[in-house]
Amino acid sequence: MDTQKKIVLTGMQPTGLLHLGNFLGAANNWKKMLDQYDCYFFIPNQHAITIPQVPAHLRSATLNCVAQYIACGLDPQRCTIFVQSHIVGHTELAWVLGCLTPLGQLYRMHQFKDKSAKRENIYSGLLYYPVLMAADILLYNADFVPTGEDQRQHVELARDLAERFNATYSPTFTVPAPLIETTGARVMSLKSPEHKMSKSDSADGATIYITDKPETIRKKIISAVTDSENKIASHPERPGIFNLLNIYCAVTGIQLEAAEAKFKDYTGYAAFKEELAEVLIKLLDPIREKYEAIKEDKEYLYAVIRKGNEKVQPIAYKTLSKVYHKVGFLER
Ligand code: TYM
Repeated sequence: MDTQKKIVLTGMQPTGLLHLGNFLGAANNWKKMLDQYDCYFFIPNQHAITIPQVPAHLRSATLNCVAQYIACGLDPQRCTIFVQSHIVGHTELAWVLGCLTPLGQLYRMHQFKDKSAKRENIYSGLLYYPVLMAADILLYNADFVPTGEDQRQHVELARDLAERFNATYSPTFTVPAPLIETTGARVMSLKSPEHKMSKSDSADGATIYITDKPETIRKKIISAVTDSENKIASHPERPGIFNLLNIYCAVTGIQLEAAEAKFKDYTGYAAFKEELAEVLIKLLDPIREKYEAIKEDKEYLYAVIRKGNEKVQPIAYKTLSKVYHKVGFLER
């Protein structure tokens, strides 16, 4: 029965097409959880406005994100897909949790430091973002939060806030655990492999999108930055080849040592890169095809999120009512 399963909750910002990091660090692992857990995959569009967005783009990217979730294998018959801004409760709970969050803890968040360093105008939403993320998780009493490595610190904050609220008032929230796979948890840029692959990287060929066609994937992999050692071995001081090997392992499921052994007699990177491109094409082709087939079917995509919203709104409302009562707000 669904109600007895542990709850998994996670999401990806609708800020553009999903990339290989989003897939290997996140969606590819999420789809393996569909039967074991009660899975909630949502679209955090309220997070997206922490950096400026073009409203019309945000709207279409949100629906595209639903299509990409489904194309990545998140079967809406076996999981719940919903949109954050449709649900009453996320921002309300975030306000309550924010009143328990020391400012210093938010200033220490790596992602805030990174993102604010790149911008001239820094708005408070960017600082407050991890509190909203904690609310997303706690509102549904999620047991597990599967993400890539970059979100670990945010999930730790959600744990802290659950414990702090429970200790301040009375036991209310499940303390969530991060679920971070070792391979694929940190896919790096193909052009500057000391930085993580990201949607906002404008360098040509740095990011593989899940909708890239075979020839584009081949071109990006062939031109990926490596070094002059011409040896296929994973060494952290050789971030280019280290990243490509990690991607190969995440896609094929082969262990790093086994992959190194397989490629040890290769001279130069060309043949390895060709093999890598082929496994990526095999992985991403069906995803792109599925995405192309459903992305214009707005009726279907809306039906998926309506069904998800209907399931989660009562749960969110129940948690919020409990929290409001505990903090001393009058019944609505
Ligand atoms: P976002 O949209 O940046 O990323 C979505 C997921 O993709 C993973 N990821 C990566 N994994 C490996 N290598 C990479 N280069 C890479 N880039 C991204 C992320 O770790 C993430 O799992 N704050 C979240 C969204 C969010 C959320 C939540 C997640 C809002 N509320 C509640 C979980 C629970 C974010 O911005 O992810």
